[in-house]
Amino acid sequence: MDMIVPETERLQFMQDMQTALSQTPKRISPKYFYDQVGSVLFDRICELPEYYPTQTELSILKSHAGEMAECMGENADIIEFGAGSLQKIRYLLNVARNPARYVPMDISGPHLKAASAELQTEFVTLKILPVVADYTNPWHLPSSIPGAGKRIAFFPGSTLGNFSPEQAHAFFQNCVQHLSGGALLLGVDLIKSPAVLHAAYNDSQGVTAAFNLNLLTRANRDLGCDFDLTQFAHSAFYNAPFKRIEMHLLSLKSQIVHLNGVAYAFEQGETLHTEYSHKFTIAGVEQAAHLAGLQVGSFWTDPQQYFGLFWLQIP
Ligand code: AVI
Repeated sequence: MDMIVPETERLQFMQDMQTALSQTPKRISPKYFYDQVGSVLFDRICELPEYYPTQTELSILKSHAGEMAECMGENADIIEFGAGSLQKIRYLLNVARNPARYVPMDISGPHLKAASAELQTEFVTLKILPVVADYTNPWHLPSSIPGAGKRIAFFPGSTLGNFSPEQAHAFFQNCVQHLSGGALLLGVDLIKSPAVLHAAYNDSQGVTAAFNLNLLTRANRDLGCDFDLTQFAHSAFYNAPFKRIEMHLLSLKSQIVHLNGVAYAFEQGETLHTEYSHKFTIAGVEQAAHLAGLQVGSFWTDPQQYFGLFWLQIP
């Protein structure tokens, strides 16, 4: 199994953290959650009773994987964005008709490597080509994937919701550019009761809080910052007008944090914004896809319409 070596992210993290701390409001990309510890914490989130998206999406895949494989056809190259632990793809690989290759793309190298190696033991003949890449920026496929095969992208987990609407549009456009003649199978979290949404990001075991705060631990370790973890709190709430959960790290007192010898002040109650998690209507996804030139095909959901999987055809 080939492994594409990741570029070091440290300098980029340093630069992004400097920018984050210099601006008002302070804000950093959620991609920095996913170091090794963060990836494991995210896997734990996916098993929490309150965090319904994972189990709901899995139940939809379980019920409809056959129809999705039908849409995929024979010999497809399957590319997965934000592949994580490669749990969901198993449902598709079990029924896919002779997939040519499986290309999981993720930002967390060690996690992706381990998960790919494990998947290979289950799907012995499948060609697996893991790619460590930041697909939140314009991405391209490795040259070892020739252009001839039908390319099917799988983007589950509502990770699209972590993008701004502009980033989501750019992502769709990137798909149109690189997956011509193929399709995007997109999983998104649908709008529902704010209480259900709130609970999903404020779990009783505190795993989401640990996931959020781990970003500061990572900054202390990788960038030599001096965030006092006892003086920041996890804050997550549903912002209904913007249809999104917002996650922040809230400063419990007025304090100074250092990065590269520069002092950055936090007022009491000031936050470092760490994540948006947008929630969608079916019409909203269709409109956004259409705007970028994708054609809406099949749609699958659960009985409560908590989560949706869209088949988006790329001309
Ligand atoms: C990866 N992403 C879709 C998750 C979400 O729900 O937005 C990340 C997450 N953040 C807190 N809990 C889960």
